[in-house]
Amino acid sequence: MQGLPLIEVRPYRASDLDGVIDLFQRAVRETASADYTAAQIEAWAQADRDEWELGRASRPTWVGLVDGELAGFADLEKNGLIDMMFVDPLHQRKSVATSLLARIEAEADEAGLTTLHTYSSVTARPFFEYCGFTMLLARAVIVREQRFVQFVMEKVLDL
Ligand SMILES: CC(C)(COP(=O)(O)OP(=O)(O)OC[C@H]1O[C@@H](n2cnc3c(N)ncnc32)[C@H](O)[C@@H]1OP(=O)(O)O)[C@@H](O)C(=O)NCCC(=O)NCCS
Repeated sequence: MQGLPLIEVRPYRASDLDGVIDLFQRAVRETASADYTAAQIEAWAQADRDEWELGRASRPTWVGLVDGELAGFADLEKNGLIDMMFVDPLHQRKSVATSLLARIEAEADEAGLTTLHTYSSVTARPFFEYCGFTMLLARAVIVREQRFVQFVMEKVLDL
């Protein structure tokens, strides 16, 4: 019988950069593609390595490892925004995102934040709802000439 995978969450390191970009692109192309058109997926999956390097350095990011291998990553901005939450298609539904969010909540609590928010994709909405986020509004955003619906979602942290 196969046991539950061992999920470890640790801070992102500069050497994780290419791994997280690859994971991001595969999560978009293989998982999110169920909910978007091919043109939307190609617009979303673009990643400039230099911009990503700066982005990761500008805010705390954590990676989730399954049996020691990179399986997901997520970040937290100072204002409580979770901008990134991506899990490798090979490791979907193993609680990798739930583990990353638990770490983010602990860090947010430590930083004195009382709420978290995110601009969720269609694909991620059931995950964020499962984790106690509520939808505040749906809005349209344009990314590289493609129109996307985003769900602005919020979670009030325990006092
Ligand atoms: C959204 C995402 C991060 C979830 O990662 P995950 O590690 O598979 O999520 P978890 O295993 O922690 O899921 C926890 C619970 O959330 C809910 N959930 C997660 N994905 C779901 C889905 N596709 N459909 C319905 N419910 C879902 C389930 O209740 C799940 O519990 P269960 O598996 O016991 O039923 C991942 O699917 C992903 O990377 N998606 C593509 C990229 C994306 O849209 N990222 C967000 C950008 S804002």
